[in-house]
Amino acid sequence: TKKILLFCDPGIDDSLAIMYTMLDPEIELVGIVSSYGNVTKEQATANAAHLVQLAGRNDIPIIPGASQPVQQEDVTFYPEIHGEGIGPIRPPSNMQYQTYPFDTIRLIIERYRDELIIVDTGRSTSLATAFILFPDQLKMVHSFYVMGGAFFVPGNVTALAEANFFGDPTSSNFVLKFAHNLTITPLNATQFAVLTPDIVDSISQNKKNIYAFMIKPVFEYYYEFYKKTVPGIQGAPIHDLLTIMVIKNPAIVDYIYYDANVVEGIEAKGMSYIDYRPASKAGETRIAIQLHYEEFIEEFSRVMLPE
Ligand code: BDR
Ligand code: CA
Repeated sequence: TKKILLFCDPGIDDSLAIMYTMLDPEIELVGIVSSYGNVTKEQATANAAHLVQLAGRNDIPIIPGASQPVQQEDVTFYPEIHGEGIGPIRPPSNMQYQTYPFDTIRLIIERYRDELIIVDTGRSTSLATAFILFPDQLKMVHSFYVMGGAFFVPGNVTALAEANFFGDPTSSNFVLKFAHNLTITPLNATQFAVLTPDIVDSISQNKKNIYAFMIKPVFEYYYEFYKKTVPGIQGAPIHDLLTIMVIKNPAIVDYIYYDANVVEGIEAKGMSYIDYRPASKAGETRIAIQLHYEEFIEEFSRVMLPE
């Protein structure tokens, strides 16, 4: 099994990524670091707790992370895309759950070492902080997977920038510099990882998917936003789930190998780029630039539509 420590900001597509890890017997989620991003840190933490509790996995440590980026105090949240809960679904008001201190990240790495895969599907602040606090431990980790960026394609939060790298570009650059064995899934691939209403209908009728009862309202909330903003789109992109999916299924996307950078200045804030000039050297980071949609749906169905 793949042991994953997930940094995230659930968030609808982060929530789908968590559901996927709960339903795939070949993935073991060993911790969740929940931070600001799509929603506040508090909401992200409650949403994560709700999802693991539905799976009866109260044993998975939930570690609250950053509540804001390093360089600015005012943070924009996105309730119009992700809702105030998980879309319209709110965790029960009397829900009880335990959270763990940030140092738990160090303990988790020391326990699993080179078996551990770190995935970041949120703003980069918490993972950058972990690199600052626990540099020796982070060297032990097997590999890193980051959802972020848009390389030579339009952004989603500004014309140039994708939301995760826009949220805290300083931290993103830090992570891109220090994470080894790094795979990035940018919008180039993830914007095409579209979940469609027919599959959602099937999931909602599936007796073995513990999230069947919530999938439809959650998806519909998310899809409403995309219908309004992306003309002709047939569903809604589940960026963060694709990021987890490529760990076990690397051939679902095609890659280029370059070192990625993020602009920290005002005008092009959060824009990601590589040095793509003919004479430039290829780098070490694996950047997913194209998605194979049919294979994606096949793998999605294998996990989310259990027989
Ligand atoms: C990314 O930004 C977030 O809002 C989504 O959850 C995803 O991680 C897509 O740009
Ligand atoms: Ca996210």
